[in-house]
Amino acid sequence: MTVARKREGEAMTSDGEWAVILGVTGGTGGAVARALARSPGLNVFGMHRGHYPEQAEAVARDVQGAGRRCHLVQSGAATPEEVRRGTEELATVAGPRSVRVLVHAIANASYGHFFAPGRKRFEPAHFRKTFEAMSDSFVYWTQALLDRDLLADGARLIAFSNPMVDSVVTGWGLVSAAKAALEQYVRHLGHEIGPMGYRVMMLKFGLVDTVAVQRAFEPGEWARVRREIAAGTPARRLSTVEEVARVVSFLAGPEGEWFHAATIDLTGGQTGALLDGIFNPRRLDEPG
Ligand SMILES: NC(=O)c1ccc[n+]([C@@H]2O[C@H](COP(=O)([O-])OP(=O)(O)OC[C@H]3O[C@@H](n4cnc5c(N)ncnc54)[C@H](OP(=O)(O)O)[C@@H]3O)[C@@H](O)[C@H]2O)c1
Repeated sequence: MTVARKREGEAMTSDGEWAVILGVTGGTGGAVARALARSPGLNVFGMHRGHYPEQAEAVARDVQGAGRRCHLVQSGAATPEEVRRGTEELATVAGPRSVRVLVHAIANASYGHFFAPGRKRFEPAHFRKTFEAMSDSFVYWTQALLDRDLLADGARLIAFSNPMVDSVVTGWGLVSAAKAALEQYVRHLGHEIGPMGYRVMMLKFGLVDTVAVQRAFEPGEWARVRREIAAGTPARRLSTVEEVARVVSFLAGPEGEWFHAATIDLTGGQTGALLDGIFNPRRLDEPG
């Protein structure tokens, strides 16, 4: 594990509260880091495996530009051992009970099929990788932060989901399954640690333009997917990572106190009109 950015002579105790962001160099994780540094004004401890060094530099620059500390660790953050090492390092920069928000923004899934002749089949290693990265690690981090007494009073633990969990998109079955498990983890954790004052929630948002989704399509296909999803969304556009990040800031602040043990829908109705698109090929706002 290497520390990608640490100020010369940086104090080993926190001078404020922290956001822990897993997948901090991604589209969503990066936007959330910037937003939380501004409001409610948190230092950022972020983890990523190093595929996007320019984004890591940019996140560190922007967080520090907002007057907050940024400590990025270049390492996986999904396996129990990675979580153990990550929280060990976190404890050297953040004081006890100083983590205000945990945001799980890791995207690392296998694509394939459960049984489709002639198509790539999911093997046990695909299940393990996807579940560990996309869902189980949220629980590992929660456990480790509690074990080390790093969570601030009333801390918020935030996971992300997408509308696929309510649908069937062939090829993406393991993503849906992992998100479904994550939703249950959020509900159960909510009941287990809610009485201690912590808040656990899942934010479900629609397609946003990030590496994770772009990588899943050929460039031309991606343009078509974007266009068709925008057309089926009531606002007639995709949401942005900045819009998602602003909601995370809100949830992290005092106004977010009562969001708990639940999935919050931020999809903007993105998949609500799938049947409408079949029944009525011409949309209401198209010329008749
Ligand atoms: N994009 C969407 O349309 C959308 C919609 C709804 C929900 N979401 C959810 O939002 C979250 C973030 O998605 P995104 O689209 O922002 O992803 P993204 O842009 O691809 O970023 C993923 C981030 O995770 C890091 N990462 C991947 N595997 C990791 C691991 N094992 N340990 C530590 N870091 C790891 C990546 O950096 P390295 O590869 O360098 O590690 C990167 O920083 C995911 O939970 C996704 O399901 C996304």
